[in-house]
Amino acid sequence: MKKGSGDEPVVPRSVAVIMDGNGRWAKRAGFERIRGHERGIDAVRTTVTECARLGVEALVLYAFSEENWQRPQREINLLFGLLERFLVEERDTLMQNRVRLLHSGRRARLSPKVLRLLDETVALTAANTGMRLSLAISYGGRQELLDAMQQLARRVQKGELAPEAIDEAALRSALYQPDLPDPDLLIRTAGEMRISNFLLWQVSYAEIHVSDVCWPEFGAEQLAAAFRDYGRRVRKFGKVL
Ligand code: FPP
Repeated sequence: MKKGSGDEPVVPRSVAVIMDGNGRWAKRAGFERIRGHERGIDAVRTTVTECARLGVEALVLYAFSEENWQRPQREINLLFGLLERFLVEERDTLMQNRVRLLHSGRRARLSPKVLRLLDETVALTAANTGMRLSLAISYGGRQELLDAMQQLARRVQKGELAPEAIDEAALRSALYQPDLPDPDLLIRTAGEMRISNFLLWQVSYAEIHVSDVCWPEFGAEQLAAAFRDYGRRVRKFGKVL
């Protein structure tokens, strides 16, 4: 039940971002779509370092959805090439900012190289005590819930769990990153007002901020605007204040 006074930004404990509009930004600027994703990396770096500096505890970035596998193979390859570079080149920035990297999503379709770089960066940053940054890669909210249900069903089958014991805590424990707090604020760029299968369980009480700028244009100023907007929200969680 946090409310800021007037126009002061309030820093949420947990933030999730749907980074949208890379393609539109590139098209408008007369570039190939991939140039939008390339510029998107700069926006990722700014958002990560700003959130860490401001004291956000957890940040989840939607980098590649389960549905994104349906994009042209060339764009998928280029996107994963960028992701591989990010996982190596940003290691110093992550360490300097004491950021701990995590992965939310399915591992099955990720290449051995992406998995290796991801696991190495997760291991390198594992002892960092600052912000936790989870990259949602090959992620889908429905798929996460299906994977969680299958995990719980296996435990029931083995006799480890009674069906009646499946409560919110049990389901949460089977999510990809059970220890991350639910997002207080969900930011989406490029003016789109959709959840797009992102963190379906976790966004139940998230405040939603839609920024009109495309992701490559999203910087510290836009993040501050999102936090000011968040500061104006009255959060009741279904109760009467
Ligand atoms: C949405 O733009 C963006 C994506 C599907 C990918 C997001 C990826 C990045 C920002 C770069 C890699 C990320 C990391 C964390 C290294 P879109 O292509 O759907 O844009 P459009 O809707 O305008 O076509």
